[in-house]
Amino acid sequence: MPATNIEDLIALCKRRGFIFQSSEIYGGTQGLYDYGPLGVELKNNIKNSWWKSIVYERDDVEGLDAAILTKQSVLKYSGHEETFTDPLVDCKSCGERFRADQVPDYCKKEDLTEPRQFNLMFKTNIGPVDDGKTFAYLRPETAQQIFTNFKNVVDSTSRNVPFGIAQIGKAFRNEITLKSFIFRVREFEQMELEFFVVPGTDEDWHKKWVELRINWWEKQGVPKKSLELYEVPKDELAHYSKATVDIMYKFPHGVEELEGIANRTDFDLGSHSKNQDELSLKSKVSENNESNAKLALKDENNNWMVPFVIEPSAGVDRAILAILNEAYHLEKIEDKERVVLKLKPHLSPIKAAIIPLKKNDEKIVAKAKEIKNKLQSLGMGRVLFENSGNIGKNYRRHDEIGTPICITIDFETLEEETVTVRDRDTMSQKRVSINDLEEVFKDLF
Ligand code: GAP
Repeated sequence: MPATNIEDLIALCKRRGFIFQSSEIYGGTQGLYDYGPLGVELKNNIKNSWWKSIVYERDDVEGLDAAILTKQSVLKYSGHEETFTDPLVDCKSCGERFRADQVPDYCKKEDLTEPRQFNLMFKTNIGPVDDGKTFAYLRPETAQQIFTNFKNVVDSTSRNVPFGIAQIGKAFRNEITLKSFIFRVREFEQMELEFFVVPGTDEDWHKKWVELRINWWEKQGVPKKSLELYEVPKDELAHYSKATVDIMYKFPHGVEELEGIANRTDFDLGSHSKNQDELSLKSKVSENNESNAKLALKDENNNWMVPFVIEPSAGVDRAILAILNEAYHLEKIEDKERVVLKLKPHLSPIKAAIIPLKKNDEKIVAKAKEIKNKLQSLGMGRVLFENSGNIGKNYRRHDEIGTPICITIDFETLEEETVTVRDRDTMSQKRVSINDLEEVFKDLF
């Protein structure tokens, strides 16, 4: 059973070193969080799992890692300067600011100003002179630099449609209303794929990507029964979208968007192109006199063709929240309670804990270190040599942080070359020969 309230998750994240409030010793900054020793491992594991399924396990996707600071022209032609806004209202009685559609219940809503549009992009100065003109934006989505690099990637890889470009990285939004721990924050990470297809095949690809993405969530421990599909109504679609399906998840605070899968048509490639009148664009774009490239391909008749784009876009931080929520279990064992994170082993921050039964026995400690180094060298992720606390405390700690197995080294190990392997979920223990340990460990993943 997932966690019943967000407080349990927040407490676990802080207690065990997954997530901390940013700048906490100075009172913290709202909407900013830092990932601690376990959080960074979990985050990397989620991102690696996404990259593996999107880039390595397919033969039609290339990767990219573009700059975060983004030239103004990019976000002008993308439409963000004009439309990436939220309606802002001030309450004259409580003195707070809210998004007009998200005024909380504690505000009496009696003395609100008229909504005014507030652009969510952060700006920063570039170079030593702060003249207000030479600025860049902190990208509000990773997608735009995929579009601006379209020609570079095509020219350097000889790709033709259908193919995709994937990117994982930070995005920044000056959100008015923050929400539910890491659900809505001002600095977050996205895992985005822009998949370029022949116009006319876009609707089929859209359906296919929705299915593929649900399957991926299931493999991360977020079951179908916790997900809902939401077809965004036409009048709520983003300016670039012909159709968007949101994958919604039952977060502790309610059912909300986990990932969006949009049909972005030829809007972005068209918007960032020069000589747009030669491109037979299907979408309406603003004239572009600043771009020096045509972001298009030649079709079999040597005519320009601007691919349509299907975009699965998932937030890493929301993924962490959903995955932790699903993994969190509070179990009653006899008269005691245990918290256990039943994470899929490929996502666990620590893959195995190696525990010497006698902390000050040189031979046992040396054997434990030898086993740690052997398992570590297999490249499955972090293996921890755990030489503190008693065995019971170690088991509890590793249950709480989701370590799939604990391996105990004792006197028998020295005599018989065997270790005790304890399973996180069943708590069962078995004696395993050191010769077989590598296989037992690898079988987990
Ligand atoms: N390129 C398309 C795009 O950015 P979006 O629906 O605005 O679309 C995609 O964002 C995903 O990014 C969302 O489904 C969510 O997981 C994540 N996301 C968006 N805003 C966020 C925020 N303020 N805090 C945390 N995650 C956010």
